[in-house]
Amino acid sequence: PAAVIVAIDGPAGTGKSSTSKAVAAKLGLGYLDTGAQYRAITWWMLSNGIDVNDATAVADASAKPVIVSGTDPAAPTITVDGLDAAGPIRTQEVTSAVSAVSAVPEVRTLITDLQRSIAAEAPDGIVVEGRDIGITVLPDADLKVFLTASPEARAARRSGELKGKEASDLAATREALIKRDAADSGRKTSPLAKADDAVEVDTTELTLEQVIECVVTLIEGAG
Ligand code: C5P
Repeated sequence: PAAVIVAIDGPAGTGKSSTSKAVAAKLGLGYLDTGAQYRAITWWMLSNGIDVNDATAVADASAKPVIVSGTDPAAPTITVDGLDAAGPIRTQEVTSAVSAVSAVPEVRTLITDLQRSIAAEAPDGIVVEGRDIGITVLPDADLKVFLTASPEARAARRSGELKGKEASDLAATREALIKRDAADSGRKTSPLAKADDAVEVDTTELTLEQVIECVVTLIEGAG
């Protein structure tokens, strides 16, 4: 059978990563977290003293870091210049800076090309999650899903994921999520948006298991 390509988009905290990983594992597909790639390039910019709010400086430096993503859904990996980036890309510092970096067109072109080649090389197909996968990166995907959830549900899920000293209160998490979504939806190049042919799934009242089941059923129907 031909490799199946699945695009899963939506704002932060809708369950994209958990859902995509589980669906890929269940169906024997690869998994690509495109947010991790934007976080990785942002981490490199911060580590190398690039002002993330200077779009020209970010554009000039954008081709320097070598970002490699491992696509095994049971153990996805991300490295920058050979360094394990999985931990550092989840810090508050990176989360606060990533929308500015990901809005720079040169960054998007580079990362989009990388994503397309990873998807093209996935032997059995792949689940790719992000913000612009269905519209820009893989417009010919076999299935496009757009996950949504209320801001309250998204903030509660995100708070649950944060640990230790970075665990912020619910209200602050909610404000930060809304701010990041507004930046991602409002940027000029490839904003967060639902493709016309994407299936929208509101996960507010659903358990993770129910969302996984729903997406698996949609993939089987699409194939
Ligand atoms: O999914 P995650 O929250 O890790 O994504 C981090 C950031 O990466 C987003 O807020 C957005 O700025 C950027 N991103 C993007 N396009 C994608 C995936 C993520 O611009 N396809």
